[in-house]
Amino acid sequence: MRARFPEPTATSSTAMARTLLASIFLLLWSGLVAALTSTLVQVPSIPNNPTNVGVFVYTPTTVVEKPPVIIAIHYCGGTADAYFTGSPYALYADYYGFIVMYPSSPNADLCWDVSSVATLTHNGGGDSFGIASMVAYAIANYNADPTRVYVTGTSSGAMMTNVMCAVYPELFAAASVYSGVPAGCFMSNFGGVDAWNSSCAEGQVSQTSAQWAAQVRAMFPGYTGTYPPIQEYHGTADTTLFPENFVEEIKEWAGIFGYDADAPTQVIENDPLPGYNKSIYGPSLQGILAQGVGHTVPIQGDQDMIWFGFEAPGTTGVAEFGQCGGIGYTGSTFCMPPYFCEVLNDFFSQCLTMS
Ligand SMILES: *[C@@H]1O[C@H](CO)[C@@H](O)[C@H](O)[C@H]1NC(C)=O
Ligand SMILES: *[C@@H]1O[C@H](CO)[C@@H](O)[C@H](O)[C@H]1NC(C)=O
Repeated sequence: MRARFPEPTATSSTAMARTLLASIFLLLWSGLVAALTSTLVQVPSIPNNPTNVGVFVYTPTTVVEKPPVIIAIHYCGGTADAYFTGSPYALYADYYGFIVMYPSSPNADLCWDVSSVATLTHNGGGDSFGIASMVAYAIANYNADPTRVYVTGTSSGAMMTNVMCAVYPELFAAASVYSGVPAGCFMSNFGGVDAWNSSCAEGQVSQTSAQWAAQVRAMFPGYTGTYPPIQEYHGTADTTLFPENFVEEIKEWAGIFGYDADAPTQVIENDPLPGYNKSIYGPSLQGILAQGVGHTVPIQGDQDMIWFGFEAPGTTGVAEFGQCGGIGYTGSTFCMPPYFCEVLNDFFSQCLTMS
């Protein structure tokens, strides 16, 4: 398996790896905030949050009656606010009428604890418990639809997304993972909380599907329900979380779902972007490997919406360059993501990409 990837140069130290995690994130959506219908709000405190995970919520001006919820988990060195502005989910929330909740790391390095026994144990505490409690809070306070809660994240947030699916599978209807490691792969051998694990990061941890599945099931002993369908994205040129982690993530979830990690039922080339291969292992698992892409794979918002069961973007609203406003105009004023309605003059507003 290892030979499939160009051998990246190992980052020489933990500090360097952390710096890389913190810095290499493209703010593709930086024009987003000004165009939104609402703002990011902090929830002062929620029950069952032992590590004091910061809780932030974006509620669009108009939400559907029983709104779905997306939990969007930031990368190392990030914050709820950084991921709010650095990811497209709030924009999609305006479009579809769902709620986005952004946890904010309580740890000094602003990474997530995916290494402690507590965080890797159902109702055991740790950051994962605080994030799980955000879901309960949303259901109790925002009348959220408990059958339509989704989880996604980038880098450290991607690691945590895998952890949430393993430790709290009953909460989520689907998940999307951008450049992470398998749940349990960062498990610390010295009981470390939010500890870095170089052997996992550098792709030296390899287990069989059966071993990974047993490790996942041990995080929630006695659970007999289903696990959330999951999409795993990874770049072949990732030198922070080596692409071997992609293979291990696929093995992990294939083991859970009873699929063959070596035999996808279908491979679609150049999907969703040129150079990306989408491998479908069964209805609950897809792996998207991006040729030449480093850490991290850019969020594919449209793909996430489809994976999360929303009507495909582009089927309603105004397309790029279409009119979305102006004196005398009576058509739709909503642009299909990722386009924004920009006022060009009193008589003409047009759906354009962000400048
Ligand atoms: C890193 O994780 C692996 C399991 O994935 C474990 O065997 C190893 O001991 C861990 N290393 C440290 C330093 O905790
Ligand atoms: C995608 O599949 C094609 C055909 O098998 C292969 O040549 C290419 O290397 C694959 N790319 C990735 C990123 O796996």
